[in-house]
Amino acid sequence: MKLRSILITGGAGFIGTNFLRYILGREKEILVLVVDNLSTGRLENLAPFINSPNVRFFYADLTRDEKLLEFLFQRYLPEVVVHFAAEAHVDESIFNPLIASANFLMTNLLLEKARQYKVSKFIQVSTDEVYGPIFEGFADESHPLNPSSPYSASKAGCDLLCLAYFKTYGVPAIITRSTNNYGPYLDVRRLISRHITNALLDFPLPLWDGGGQARDWLFVEDHCSALHLLIEKGEPGEIYNISAGNLLTNFEVAETILRLIPESKSRIIFRGSRPAHDIRYALDSSKIKQLGWEPKVSFEEGLRLTVEWFRENYDWWRVIKEKVEKELYSKLGR
Ligand SMILES: NC(=O)c1ccc[n+]([C@@H]2O[C@H](COP(=O)([O-])OP(=O)(O)OC[C@H]3O[C@@H](n4cnc5c(N)ncnc54)[C@H](O)[C@@H]3O)[C@@H](O)[C@H]2O)c1
Repeated sequence: MKLRSILITGGAGFIGTNFLRYILGREKEILVLVVDNLSTGRLENLAPFINSPNVRFFYADLTRDEKLLEFLFQRYLPEVVVHFAAEAHVDESIFNPLIASANFLMTNLLLEKARQYKVSKFIQVSTDEVYGPIFEGFADESHPLNPSSPYSASKAGCDLLCLAYFKTYGVPAIITRSTNNYGPYLDVRRLISRHITNALLDFPLPLWDGGGQARDWLFVEDHCSALHLLIEKGEPGEIYNISAGNLLTNFEVAETILRLIPESKSRIIFRGSRPAHDIRYALDSSKIKQLGWEPKVSFEEGLRLTVEWFRENYDWWRVIKEKVEKELYSKLGR
């Protein structure tokens, strides 16, 4: 399918901005509409496209700017919606749980427009966290929902709403549940980017709960290729897990980062306990692999590329690093 137009919500954020670059590199005649309220997203992520005839940026709050959405759908009739926009920080949701409702509201509003304007695919970018902790084995798409934090509960709610829109109105919604992503443009509040930037500044690398929590890390470009494939081949009403099989503890990740930044004087330090800190997430992604998707970037290689990106983009992260660290210390004491 040759894509003519696509709406990317949250396109100024981490995964959205990577997906924007990915899709522009592969669909030459596409028109990409980006909607973002720049809450965690960064305008500078979109700066290279400011004069691009292929990209239009709309500053809007998806929880309430219905008029803007109406204008956008009426004027451009996007064929496909890829919905990244969310209050996507677990810690933020623990300290301000009311943000969970924002995720539901914006998904609801977008689904309404998708229904009204008959989009051909609606991709709901969800997370493995909706399954809650997977103590052993691997969760496939039929695993029960058991979210632990307000963030993951809100994502589970959004997923169910998408399925309801599919069943009730035939909106061709597809739900993707990926594991933790890392790569360029990763917000410095996240584990990997926080540790890389701390190591580059010789700050300590703090770990919660002994650092024994296991996550399956996915290089963001591999996530983008999975989403692209699902736009073409995904079955409406279906859920697809996306993971690369890089199951590592947070301690192992911190150690690898220190190995990749040998000049750093940083050390790993242990902090107390974080609420709703799931011990392990692990997915079975054979369903999407049957469609032909495979991750291409190994963890070592992806992490090396990410460290390189942070080394080369000092100005991008340095401006917000101090503010973020102060916030984290005041909220979490870490
Ligand atoms: N980062 C991960 O490891 C990961 C893993 C699985 C799934 N996801 C999902 O992927 C999506 C993107 O996550 P991310 O890590 O890029 O987060 P992010 O915070 O970098 O991006 C979210 C974007 O949404 C925008 N946004 C938030 N509220 C909005 C609103 N009301 N109106 C308009 N825009 C709004 C933000 O400004 C930001 O640009 C989320 O839905 C998240 O649940 C992320």
